[in-house]
Amino acid sequence: MDKKFKRTLITSALPYANGPVHIGHLAGVYVPADIYARYLRLKGEETLFIGGSDEHGVPIALKAKAEGKTPQEIVDRYHFLIKKSFEDFGITFDIYSRTSSEIHRKTAADFFRKLYDKGEFIEKTSEQYYDEEAKQFLADRYITGTCPHCGNERAYGDQCEACGTSLSPLDLIHPQSAISGSIPVLKETKHWYLPLDKHEPWLKEWILNQHTEWKSNVYGQCKSWLEMGLQPRAVSRDLDWGVPVPVEGAEGKVLYVWFDAPIGYISNTIEHSPDEWEKWWKDEDTKLLHFIGKDNIVFHCIVFPSMLKADGSYILPENVPANEFLNLEGEKISTSRNWAVWLHEYLEDFPGKQDVLRYVLTANAPETKDNDFTWKDFQARNNNELVAVLGNFVNRVLVLTHKYFDGKVPARNELTDYDREVVAELAGVKPLLESNLNQFRFREALKEAMNLARLGNKYLADTEPWKVAKTDLERTATILNISLQITANLAVAFEPFLPFTSEKIRQMIDKSSFRWEELGSLDLLSAGHALQAPKLLFEKIEDEAMERQVEKLRRPTD
Ligand code: 2FM
Ligand code: ZN
Repeated sequence: MDKKFKRTLITSALPYANGPVHIGHLAGVYVPADIYARYLRLKGEETLFIGGSDEHGVPIALKAKAEGKTPQEIVDRYHFLIKKSFEDFGITFDIYSRTSSEIHRKTAADFFRKLYDKGEFIEKTSEQYYDEEAKQFLADRYITGTCPHCGNERAYGDQCEACGTSLSPLDLIHPQSAISGSIPVLKETKHWYLPLDKHEPWLKEWILNQHTEWKSNVYGQCKSWLEMGLQPRAVSRDLDWGVPVPVEGAEGKVLYVWFDAPIGYISNTIEHSPDEWEKWWKDEDTKLLHFIGKDNIVFHCIVFPSMLKADGSYILPENVPANEFLNLEGEKISTSRNWAVWLHEYLEDFPGKQDVLRYVLTANAPETKDNDFTWKDFQARNNNELVAVLGNFVNRVLVLTHKYFDGKVPARNELTDYDREVVAELAGVKPLLESNLNQFRFREALKEAMNLARLGNKYLADTEPWKVAKTDLERTATILNISLQITANLAVAFEPFLPFTSEKIRQMIDKSSFRWEELGSLDLLSAGHALQAPKLLFEKIEDEAMERQVEKLRRPTD
């Protein structure tokens, strides 16, 4: 039996504030999380949806150095840009905050300190590279040198990007500091480690036995990590950007970004509801869900739960519906190569078309495997599905009602057998959508919503009210009543997926809101209810616009 929860806490991965967000972010994490949050709210369930920027870590510190700016200046620039992109796309976070906030620094430091006081860490001293000129330890990314595998002279201390091999700084031949260019020396440094090996037994039981329902890509990755055996993980770094380690003698050390970032979910909850945050994090009746991309699985399924367990007062995630990656025109999305569709640029090129992108990214979401976004597919889905099916149906129904019934919902008369079949199909949409949404199968759920529009179109084509109207206005009234009820149902069914479109439909049928429970009903609009003038929901996208996008992508970066 599934456990009944009283409320749901939805978190979505905190994006790094060192660049704008692109379609891969939206498809993998934020659109699915938003669909789910909107669905629960529409059902009247108590829901909290947390977002925010991840503002620490070495890449941000490096970018700041390269640009001669402070890390805070870098994250200020991107935090607000990212926040705005999410707002523009209708991602309904209850809070979108940031990890450079005071409240986060305090929450993260307190979290660390409690684990430290409980003896949940081990302390280890090891030798790491130190830059004597810059007088600082070097994070793996700050060290370059020759790759021992392929000879690339610009390999990093954590990875060679030429051959893809993972490296440790000690593997590099001729290591060099990326800060001063000097040759680093090895020096002893102390760090705190979370002993994941100690947590392994309960993690195995919890995930492998108790969460067999997790998505197969998530479960599979966890299984392979757990079977390989877990090692202690350092949770501090020698760096000057981050949350200072709150322990005496730890000067110059900060919490590892992957330690403080997930605590950002907690600090953002505290910022949002200072008096009530504990009910979201410490009450067994709360269902905690983490929406993330596949590169974050180990941190959300293994590391963060171990941190929460080590504290002892927190609940654990009930599910982690991680997605795979979205590629772009057959290639991996790459920020450095500018091989991406940036959300703020999309809206400059396609103003008002948020829902078109939300639709395409959901219809083609990388739910179980990596998927490809192409502009051709974007155009086809817009023209053949949004325009030809959904937009066309809603428009025809409204135009016909204005033409034959003065824009007022006509009363239904006796139903034919065929009407009854259509009505039965309409009633079946709610359970179909729910079973998919409850299992995080958003592509399938969206398909079912679109099938309702298809049903509407077929009903109109089969019943031909424009012909019937010449001889039988009573029958025409029934057909249009049923079609209008389907239209109102479309506003409900699409609300989680295409919120801007749903709102437009509601405006046209002059209804301010619906509840999810009403989905499937044949009585959403009463006879005599006056409609507004019809407006087109979508417009055709021409080849030239797509060609411009592909060209823009292939333009060399400077
Ligand atoms: O992969 C990333 O973009 C990370 N910034 C995600 C962090 S998720 C959470 F832990 F905050
Ligand atoms: Zn190499």
